[in-house]
Amino acid sequence: MTETLILRELLAAEPGWVSGGAMASKLGVSRVSVWHQMEKLRSQGFGFEALPARGYRLSKRPRMLHAGLVEALLKVRRKSFTFSIEGEVDSTNDEAARQLATGHPAPFAVFARRQTRGRGRFGRVWHSEANGNLYSSFGFRPRIAPERMQTFTLWMGVTICDLVSNFVPVRPGIKWPNDIVFDGRKAGGMLTEARVDADQIRDLVFGLGLNVNSRSSDWPADLARRAVSLSELAGSPVDINRLTAALIGRVLLAYERFADGDHTDAFVRLWNKFDVLRGREVTLSEAGRKRRGRVLGVDDVGSLVLRDEHGRTRGYRAGEVTVEKDG
Ligand code: BTN
Repeated sequence: MTETLILRELLAAEPGWVSGGAMASKLGVSRVSVWHQMEKLRSQGFGFEALPARGYRLSKRPRMLHAGLVEALLKVRRKSFTFSIEGEVDSTNDEAARQLATGHPAPFAVFARRQTRGRGRFGRVWHSEANGNLYSSFGFRPRIAPERMQTFTLWMGVTICDLVSNFVPVRPGIKWPNDIVFDGRKAGGMLTEARVDADQIRDLVFGLGLNVNSRSSDWPADLARRAVSLSELAGSPVDINRLTAALIGRVLLAYERFADGDHTDAFVRLWNKFDVLRGREVTLSEAGRKRRGRVLGVDDVGSLVLRDEHGRTRGYRAGEVTVEKDG
């Protein structure tokens, strides 16, 4: 797309200038066509400075997700990967599942500015207004055994913590199994869903909701107390297009490493770095039962390992963790 190519030229030259003529001949289009494309980009929230002797320079980027800009910002481009940015969907996880079911080539990603039926774990509502937050789902067709799903989400979680730590001045944490937190407040959640054949995953959707540019005033009061956005932590708006391009790169690489079984050492290192539960006294609510214990870590199938008051240790595959007190 010419739009993406123009943006790529301007980004590569930043903070310098690119001449309209040079851009036109490099892209094999007329100068008028370059000018038309730039006017279109202006109407979508971009700003350009223009000087007759020097050409153009990017002076403003849109605050909203913009497909051409994300594409232009991708560091590694994979022929087989596609993504779309929707204004509104019910749930990006549902949209990705529909696309997988109708044979859309994987891997791919779906982003939306707003979800009308955003979902979290245990069927909870994921608040999904068009408030500058990220609602994303990746579709894959892995050939892996269903038991490996849990470790997949944990691995993706630490991958995302590592990515997010480049955008904010404070360290994120992973709260088993799927929360991205800052000092007890939630900035993101993951929802991995799969269709399973007899002994193999047929297709897999990895969903991530990340509070990027929302303000606490955008949320209902009870949520505002428990949630935080990256821009609140950074003290200024976060470039959602740059974040999204980086996310795509990280998720695809992490998926490949997981599928190749080449992620274990990195997983242990990153889990130890970002885990917020190790050593804490917690209550795990699981299938209507509550278990108390001290967190020892996660085992190699991704279960949370607790030691109870009698010194017995046991791993739990699912459940919700509440931290009881500083341990
Ligand atoms: C959780 O913390 O319970 C998981 C939240 C997952 C939310 C994301 S937003 C994008 C994707 N679409 C959904 O409907 N859910 C996930």
